[in-house]
Amino acid sequence: MEWRWLQFWVMVVVVLITDERVSVSGGNVTYDGRSLIIDGQRKILFSGSIHYPRSTPEMWPSLIGKAKEGGLDVIQTYVFWNLHEPQPGQYDFSGRYDLVKFIKEIQAQGLYACLRIGPFIESEWTYGGFPFWLHDVPGIVYRTDNEPFKACTLPITNYIFYMQNFTTKIVNLMKSEGLYASQGGPIILSQIENEYQNVEAAFHEKGPAYVRWAAKMAVDLQTGVPWVMCKQTDAPDPVINTCNGMQCGKTFGGPNSPNKPSMWTENWTSFYQVYGGEPYIRSAENIAFHVALFIARLNGSYVNYYMYHGGTNFGRTSSAYVITGYYDQAPLDEYGLLRQPKWGHLKQLHAAFRNCSTTLLQGMRTNFSLGQLQEAYVFQEESAGRCVAFLVNNDEKTNATVQFRNISYDLMPMSISILPDCENVIFNTAKVNTSSNKRITRSAQIFDSVDSWEGSKDVIQNFEPTISLQSDTLLEHMNVTKDKSDYLWYTMRFQHNISCTEPVLRVESFGHVTHAFVNGINTGNAHGSHDTKQFIMEIPVLLNDGSNNISLLSVMVGLPDSGAFLESKFAGLKRVEIHCNETDQFYNFTNYAWGYQVGLLGEKLQIYREENLDNIEWNNIEGYFNQSLTWYMTFFDAPVGNDPVGLNLSSMAKGEAWINGQSIGRYWVSFLTSKGQPSQSMYHVPRSFLKDSENLLVLLEEVGGNPLHISLDTISLSSLSESTSYHQIPSISLE
Ligand SMILES: *[C@@H]1O[C@H](CO)[C@@H](O)[C@H](O)[C@H]1NC(C)=O
Ligand SMILES: *[C@@H]1O[C@H](CO)[C@@H](O)[C@H](O)[C@H]1NC(C)=O
Ligand SMILES: *[C@@H]1O[C@H](CO)[C@@H](O)[C@H](O)[C@H]1NC(C)=O
Ligand SMILES: *[C@@H]1O[C@H](CO)[C@@H](O)[C@H](O)[C@H]1NC(C)=O
Ligand SMILES: *[C@@H]1O[C@H](CO)[C@@H](O)[C@H](O)[C@H]1NC(C)=O
Ligand SMILES: *[C@@H]1O[C@H](CO)[C@@H](O)[C@H](O)[C@H]1NC(C)=O
Ligand SMILES: *[C@@H]1O[C@H](CO)[C@@H](O)[C@H](O)[C@H]1NC(C)=O
Ligand SMILES: *[C@@H]1O[C@H](CO)[C@@H](O)[C@H](O)[C@H]1NC(C)=O
Ligand SMILES: *[C@@H]1O[C@H](CO)[C@@H](O)[C@H](O)[C@H]1NC(C)=O
Ligand SMILES: *[C@@H]1O[C@H](CO)[C@@H](O)[C@H](O)[C@H]1NC(C)=O
Ligand SMILES: *[C@@H]1O[C@H](CO)[C@@H](O)[C@H](O)[C@H]1NC(C)=O
Ligand SMILES: *[C@@H]1O[C@H](CO)[C@@H](O)[C@H](O)[C@H]1NC(C)=O
Repeated sequence: MEWRWLQFWVMVVVVLITDERVSVSGGNVTYDGRSLIIDGQRKILFSGSIHYPRSTPEMWPSLIGKAKEGGLDVIQTYVFWNLHEPQPGQYDFSGRYDLVKFIKEIQAQGLYACLRIGPFIESEWTYGGFPFWLHDVPGIVYRTDNEPFKACTLPITNYIFYMQNFTTKIVNLMKSEGLYASQGGPIILSQIENEYQNVEAAFHEKGPAYVRWAAKMAVDLQTGVPWVMCKQTDAPDPVINTCNGMQCGKTFGGPNSPNKPSMWTENWTSFYQVYGGEPYIRSAENIAFHVALFIARLNGSYVNYYMYHGGTNFGRTSSAYVITGYYDQAPLDEYGLLRQPKWGHLKQLHAAFRNCSTTLLQGMRTNFSLGQLQEAYVFQEESAGRCVAFLVNNDEKTNATVQFRNISYDLMPMSISILPDCENVIFNTAKVNTSSNKRITRSAQIFDSVDSWEGSKDVIQNFEPTISLQSDTLLEHMNVTKDKSDYLWYTMRFQHNISCTEPVLRVESFGHVTHAFVNGINTGNAHGSHDTKQFIMEIPVLLNDGSNNISLLSVMVGLPDSGAFLESKFAGLKRVEIHCNETDQFYNFTNYAWGYQVGLLGEKLQIYREENLDNIEWNNIEGYFNQSLTWYMTFFDAPVGNDPVGLNLSSMAKGEAWINGQSIGRYWVSFLTSKGQPSQSMYHVPRSFLKDSENLLVLLEEVGGNPLHISLDTISLSSLSESTSYHQIPSISLE
């Protein structure tokens, strides 16, 4: 069930004020019905998601710095299990996976952290963050109380033991570095599981049992800070249940215990982008309106932007059909550059709230109508004589003039005015006082010289009786590749002995892409899409009398990341037939002698690494234009300066690109949107992947392209807007 094909743009967690003042102990971070309490102080916190492996350690200080400058208090990240434990018990926390370094950078800049351990995370990340080796644990069913296997004599045959093992590993790592707030560190919140309620019913009575187990397991780890479960009505004490959904204000049943705050995570109708999809643009005004509304109307005290910086799905880390750039439309774009006016407008919003947070947290709230579609929310501290007001105009089309405390105010359509003294408007959500900016790409180098490139064809695998893996049926793709590669060859040989002038190859696939080769000749390809993964390919083929080789290359574009029973999802070929178009005769090869080969030869030889280039023969690329399954390589110097760098691959079709041996991700330029554009043609090359000179670029092209039109571009912002926006933002001191 791909229930969450929409990703949340902004997740707003709102804490409702109740009369309940019971504090639940959580080390030095506690909470009550009103807000989190850190070292005795209530807080209104603005938080933003930045996922450490979606950028580089060299980028982290600047990203976190810009988030702080933008008025955030908290950086939120998931923890990526499949990066950290590639093999059971073998851990990797190096480079982009250095979680401790990331959290310490957050701390160094004086911000808090929210650690969403999961360890199921979804997040448009391959396999929802699970290491693929879990798939081969005998009898495993993910994310449920795998009771029959608990009783096994082997200590670990059960998902939940692996889950506990990994969660413990992360918590212990954080503790050993003193990173929980209770130890003086920045982590104020942790999350266990992730939107589990969406799949819970599929597991019947084992669902709630699993929730109880997961909550107890987490709480027993004694982090000293609260745990949350998002979208989990039955989150057991003291784990805070939060709501994710479209209309939580109507559908959320509230906290499941009187001493817990109500927390709301809303979907904000922006989309992560998939191949074939357009970018979803959400205006700064619209985001600001909803953030302000949640704080005013629902006494919100914690707002998280998903994502604040999306970044890049390097390598093969994106989930099925998700593009390499992630949430480029966030306040910090894929390259970490300010997206204006979004970044600046939200910064002003945060500043306006800071200016009055004490009254919001301590005052009494009243609300009243100012007109048919206009309302006021007023927070008052009688003792201190302080008053804060929000004037809301819910009318989408027309201005409204309202009287508030005997003063007349003009309210713009769909806007909220913030009056920190109940008199002067310091911010209006619909009035953008930050200039827009534009990204400028400058071509630093065009690789248009035939002599600068070399090319090589990969091998089209044919069935050989000696092939290592054979089966008399079509095997499930992932179960064969074990995710060691996107590619799986299905090969077979047959004797053609019927008379047929128009044979048609018919292949049914569970997804994602199939390339067909008949007797070594590329005869076509077909693919599914994010929403419809299954597809049928029907192509005319030329057959020899007698022996024929059919080689079908099945390709995955990321593993699935959502839904119950992820361990039993299917990909790869389902049926293969050759029909004679003019008669009713056909060959059915679905149950036939198939030979399998995982991966391409160039991948196996790792020819994208400089030290392995000599493992294959490279030639002048004259003969390699528009050729399927072709490798291209060239060397280049880094563009001067410090501007971010992108590789413009618009002249290519589909494949993967490596710089100095590191994959910058899959590309799929030939999958066009409904407007006839590629979803992504510019691919981020982090500066830290580059040397000054002699950088190796290697491309694997599946379909066919022309590398002579590839360019290396630098990316910057239109300077006028950038400087204006930076200087126009009023600096309102914090609290
Ligand atoms: C997790 O399991 C591995 C063995 O697979 C073991 O070496 C390690 O100590 C365990 N870690 C924890 C935190 O339980
Ligand atoms: C947390 O509370 C303990 C005991 O009250 C105190 O010693 C410690 O300094 C506090 N930690 C922080 C980070 O304030
Ligand atoms: C929320 O998501 C649903 C689908 O899951 C979508 O129909 C709806 O438009 C989204 N946004 C809002 C604000 O409801
Ligand atoms: C809020 O802003 C007003 C006017 O901009 C300023 O006079 C006041 O000192 C600020 N209050 C706080 C608590 O920062
Ligand atoms: C917000 O707090 C006020 C008390 O200040 C309370 O009356 C109101 O019900 C709260 N709002 C919600 C949505 O809980
Ligand atoms: C106050 O706000 C609540 C929740 O938003 C709403 O149901 C109620 O009608 C409002 N009261 C007035 C007098 O507008
Ligand atoms: C609303 O009022 C503003 C001035 O306050 C004006 O600029 C704008 O055009 C008006 N918009 C509409 C829809 O009337
Ligand atoms: C508004 O004006 C009326 C009459 O001028 C006066 O009675 C009332 O006290 C005023 N209200 C406020 C909040 O100033
Ligand atoms: C995966 O492959 C193994 C043999 O390698 C087989 O025993 C198992 O049934 C397969 N599982 C699935 C789900 O296809
Ligand atoms: C089968 O034959 C019909 C009639 O000649 C033709 O229209 C159709 O395109 C053929 N199908 C394929 C897949 O070649
Ligand atoms: C080919 O065999 C498969 C597996 O037995 C079957 O599902 C499919 O319907 C057959 N195709 C035709 C055209 O009969
Ligand atoms: C925009 O911000 C500047 C600098 O703080 C301020 O002087 C100006 O009045 C603001 N303009 C509007 C329309 O709010």
